[in-house]
Amino acid sequence: MYRLIYWSCSTIPLEEELLKLREILTEAMQFNQAHDITGILYFGQGYFMQCLEGNQKDVEFIYEKIRLDPRHCTVTTMYTEQIEKRQFGRWQMSFVRQKSKELQFLKELGFNGFEPNGLTRNHLDQFLDFLLVQSSSKVKKVEISPS
Ligand SMILES: Cc1cc2nc3c(=O)[nH]c(=O)nc-3n(C[C@H](O)[C@H](O)[C@H](O)COP(=O)(O)O)c2cc1C
Repeated sequence: MYRLIYWSCSTIPLEEELLKLREILTEAMQFNQAHDITGILYFGQGYFMQCLEGNQKDVEFIYEKIRLDPRHCTVTTMYTEQIEKRQFGRWQMSFVRQKSKELQFLKELGFNGFEPNGLTRNHLDQFLDFLLVQSSSKVKKVEISPS
């Protein structure tokens, strides 16, 4: 089992955000379900961060497609690792859009918001744990509401 985490910059115009995020998640759900990929997609302050978990070949295959997707740029791998167990096993792709709780958590870590370059591995793991708790408090279905 393999895990890959990356961040990127959204290129989606503000007025198209809702529509485009829905499109991305619909595509992700279909492919990920068929290939037993799970994970989380975070969106905040114009950044994406995504954790992909599954068979290494499948994760690498979809990551190659994701990297080329024009809806974001500066796709930067944060880390990859072999894992024993999935962290986001309940979700084909959980989605968390930054709201005040997430921002507050990042501030407690000493950041002004999502600043991918400043995040150490330890910060990132803490943030992912926090996002997991946020996801767990939601039902399995994905809800996207305007922020
Ligand atoms: C931020 C972001 C995250 C994405 N996550 C996934 C994902 O988890 N799974 C997936 O199948 N596609 C995901 N996509 C969509 C893919 O980049 C791609 O559009 C999709 O696989 C369809 O590719 P195709 O038209 O070549 O088949 C994501 C796109 C973006 C911009």
